[in-house]
Amino acid sequence: FPLERVRNFSIIAHVDHGKSTLADRLLELTGTISTAMKNEQVLDKLQVERERGITVKAQTASLIYDYNGTTYLLNLIDTPGHVDFHYEVSRSLAACQGVILLVDANQGVQAQTVANFYLAFEAELTIIPVMNKIDLKVARPDVVTKQMENLFDFHRDEILRISAKKGLGVEEVLKAVVEKIPPPKGDVNAPLKALIFDSCYEKYRGAMCSIAMRDGSIKKGQKVMCVHSKKTYEIQEVGIMYPNEVPTEVLLAGHVGYLYANLKSTDEAQIGDTLCNPKHPVEPLPGFKPAKAMVFAGIFPMDQSEFPGLKSALDKLLLNDSSVDVNVDSSAALGQGWRLGFLGLLHMDVFCQRLEQEYDASVIITTPNVPYKVKISGAKNIKQYHGDELTILNPCLLPEANMVVQYQEPMVLATIISPDDYVGEIISLIMDRRGEQKEQLYIDDKRIMFKAVFPLNEIIVDFFDHLKSVTSGYASFDYEDNGYREANLIKISILLNGREVDELTQIAHASRARTVAKRMVNKLKEAIPPQLFEIVIQAKIGAKVIARENIKATRKDVLAKCYGGDITRKMKLLRRQAEGKKKMRRIGNIDIPKEAFINVLKR
Ligand code: GTP
Repeated sequence: FPLERVRNFSIIAHVDHGKSTLADRLLELTGTISTAMKNEQVLDKLQVERERGITVKAQTASLIYDYNGTTYLLNLIDTPGHVDFHYEVSRSLAACQGVILLVDANQGVQAQTVANFYLAFEAELTIIPVMNKIDLKVARPDVVTKQMENLFDFHRDEILRISAKKGLGVEEVLKAVVEKIPPPKGDVNAPLKALIFDSCYEKYRGAMCSIAMRDGSIKKGQKVMCVHSKKTYEIQEVGIMYPNEVPTEVLLAGHVGYLYANLKSTDEAQIGDTLCNPKHPVEPLPGFKPAKAMVFAGIFPMDQSEFPGLKSALDKLLLNDSSVDVNVDSSAALGQGWRLGFLGLLHMDVFCQRLEQEYDASVIITTPNVPYKVKISGAKNIKQYHGDELTILNPCLLPEANMVVQYQEPMVLATIISPDDYVGEIISLIMDRRGEQKEQLYIDDKRIMFKAVFPLNEIIVDFFDHLKSVTSGYASFDYEDNGYREANLIKISILLNGREVDELTQIAHASRARTVAKRMVNKLKEAIPPQLFEIVIQAKIGAKVIARENIKATRKDVLAKCYGGDITRKMKLLRRQAEGKKKMRRIGNIDIPKEAFINVLKR
């Protein structure tokens, strides 16, 4: 395909506005998949994605489309649709010249619509506004049009109205892609320059890279070099996704496709790196923002004997997800493990679910926390601290208060969109979470958009759940990084029967420390089942106990119910109790349910 007949584009939308459904329709309409596969949502492939109905991992597919007697190659690059995955969205957008901005005709513009619009706008991409679900009885096309005019400066005539579900107006979308989105620029005769914008791990073949070709060409047998890592590889296969891998002779400038080159790990297939010909090194393409981990948690095997298995499962999954920050960790109670950094809590959840599902590894996740910074005095003289500013990934490692000159906590700028009936509730929620309101704007007659700055710590665990519950599910929410701010921080330690449990240590704002400590102690009291002895739960700041609860001893004697006799029944009951225990992790001599580590933070 000559360049003027190629289009590279993405669909961006708020969760559930119909991105995957539209993608399926586009694939069908161009014959890339048969209508027999209907409603399968071909681009959503992971089990987690099917279960949760959210796209986590971007997928690419090429479509061949006849328009006015000319054949076009349209490369559709899928993007994940959740707040946590901004980073992946911007990565995918770097391979595009245009996007379809999809908005639900009933729900209208939502927080992620705004965030995604700006990602595309800042990347100077052509934006095609599309309103989906116009078949719905509750559709409000005029109101939604007004929102799109007000917020994004679209003209009402350029907004396409479609029903992806019914296939209405979808052809118009393809036409707009051809007519409005510019073809990629590139020079087939220039030295090779290609962007790796995604990678995933295939069991027997190593890493598969998705690449956007800028200049030159690439084919099997050719040697390529990664500009940043300086490593050289021999290409084993190139091709396009149609919608699954279809090998081709060559990939040319402007095209989007995949390659295999015996890449064994993500360190080798770094997303954002540029491929070139080793004999003709090129300037790297402007890099992406590096992934920024916002939430850290310890990951440990349920049992130390499972460590090697978990390690190999983790290595494989990390090949598929280079946005996870990895550090080796060990804990007195849980043994050897890792401290992993995630883009957000959903990202963490999805990652751990995949670890358990795809690799059959059973893991325990410790209480998540955000990365704090501290400046300390005299640190240069202490070997373990390089420089005098530290980032604290593990709350246990917060230096003693007398060493600290300044604490800082990470902040985010949040966007909330909601019907105006809930203004009061939202404002009090913002205050309750130490938020600072920056802006309040009507986007139509009924809906209001808030911008507020929050400490990340206040929103990672359950903010969105609360927001939804105070607004009867009508509010949407999105956030972006907003740097660090000075804060007065305190370490809270949790003790069980006098023994400090590192995995439950938290850092809290001084003004909230008592409340947080009380809540954690109460939550643990609810979560830990009574055991054969009394359990005393305490929260301490420094040497001072600030909260305490007791769990009375019980004797859970499963055999009490069998009146002597039946041995098989006895065995069955014992087995059942053993299974019940598996979901627990013993710390000292106390069994703690594995969910307790995360639940302690919920309000
Ligand atoms: P993420 O993968 O989480 O980003 O969601 P998505 O944007 O891909 O949404 P998806 O395509 O999964 O659609 C969400 C829901 O809306 C599904 O139940 C679809 O059947 C429904 N839906 C999509 N398009 C239409 C439409 O045109 N009309 C109606 N009535 N429902 C639609």
